[in-house]
Amino acid sequence: MIIAIDGPAGSGKSTVAQLIASRLNFKYIETGSMYRAVAWKALQAKINPEEQERIAEVARTISIEFQPGNERQKVIVDGEDLTPVLKTETIGRLAAVVAANKAVREVLVAQQQDMGRNGNVVMDGRDIGTVVFPDADKKFFLVADQKERAQRRHQEIRAKSPEVTFEKIYEQLQQRDFEDENREVSPLVPAKDSIRLDTTQMNIEDVVAQMIEMIGPVHSP
Ligand code: C5P
Repeated sequence: MIIAIDGPAGSGKSTVAQLIASRLNFKYIETGSMYRAVAWKALQAKINPEEQERIAEVARTISIEFQPGNERQKVIVDGEDLTPVLKTETIGRLAAVVAANKAVREVLVAQQQDMGRNGNVVMDGRDIGTVVFPDADKKFFLVADQKERAQRRHQEIRAKSPEVTFEKIYEQLQQRDFEDENREVSPLVPAKDSIRLDTTQMNIEDVVAQMIEMIGPVHSP
């Protein structure tokens, strides 16, 4: 069984996807981390994200693995645990730029399809229900009010980065939404057969409970 969860930044996708995966005993693949990993590698190598061919080469040569962690799943990039550094909004913005690169998407989408091939997986991102697994068994599209999403992000990073203001995060989120919705390749759009859930007024537990009910009975392979 493949469960696809798409939606904009801060809609709650990854928290919800991870909880659903652990309750159903499914594998969890956070595809945003893969675009973030390419962006991070490019930054380390001082490659301008607009340099299409060099960025594509980074995507072709990088090794990205997911490993179980205590609270959150770990992202191992070329053997190094990059989980905390990938989460910053700076890397998020760079990821949105590299994600507009067609060659990068081809490489990462093929890897995602391989990772999900054996089934019983929850995969979240922007194009899972439309491009990566158009035949997924269940597709969700999570949305939430833009200000609410910025508030969630602000709360998440406030303890670690108290200097980052809400206004800054709100502005970055608006920019990222615009880039994700308006790029030429695989823009952020709900799959026609996806279930749309507005999480603005909902807490995580309620979202997870509703989704698990909609997923219904699960059979082990
Ligand atoms: O989900 P997350 O915020 O980690 O994603 C970072 C960026 O990676 C997104 O803003 C988007 O541009 C890109 N992305 C994508 N397709 C996916 C997952 C993420 O284009 N399936």
